[in-house]
Amino acid sequence: MHTMTTIAETTPTLMPWTDSLNTGDARMDETHQEFVDMINTILATPEDEQLPVYKEFLNHTVEHFAQEERWMLATGFSADNCHAEHHATILETMRVVEAHYLDTDKQIITRMAEALAEWFPGHANSMDAGLAAHLKSVGFDSVTETLADPSAIKNVTMSGCGSVSCS
Ligand SMILES: [Fe+2]
Ligand SMILES: [Fe+2]
Repeated sequence: MHTMTTIAETTPTLMPWTDSLNTGDARMDETHQEFVDMINTILATPEDEQLPVYKEFLNHTVEHFAQEERWMLATGFSADNCHAEHHATILETMRVVEAHYLDTDKQIITRMAEALAEWFPGHANSMDAGLAAHLKSVGFDSVTETLADPSAIKNVTMSGCGSVSCS
């Protein structure tokens, strides 16, 4: 049936949440599940109605990245570390996308959501998982945002990515 084919062709491919996305920090993983849910909401929304959901997603991502950067600063990373730089690049691109969408390119939000769905597993498994392991190693509780023993990070200052590889 022609109608069936049309439906199959327009059904978006959603991004599954899988165990391999877990970083080992429950609060970080909760934020990441929201991130994935919002990508899926965008992909399931008709392109001419995506702007409000995209804006909500952008605000959520600002908070998501700020949360990780706050934890980095609290545990010895310097402000200009490369994980934070990666976040800044993503946010800059996301803001440009909003401008292009308003400026007639109605497919760009879908393309950005698809690109972020591809980008995210690599980021979660490297920089975010590395941060989660670091938080655990210095005894940082991400729920209360406190260190069990502040002296544990007294001599730790990471200007790069610490133990996290940065490509
Ligand atoms: Fe993250
Ligand atoms: Fe991150």
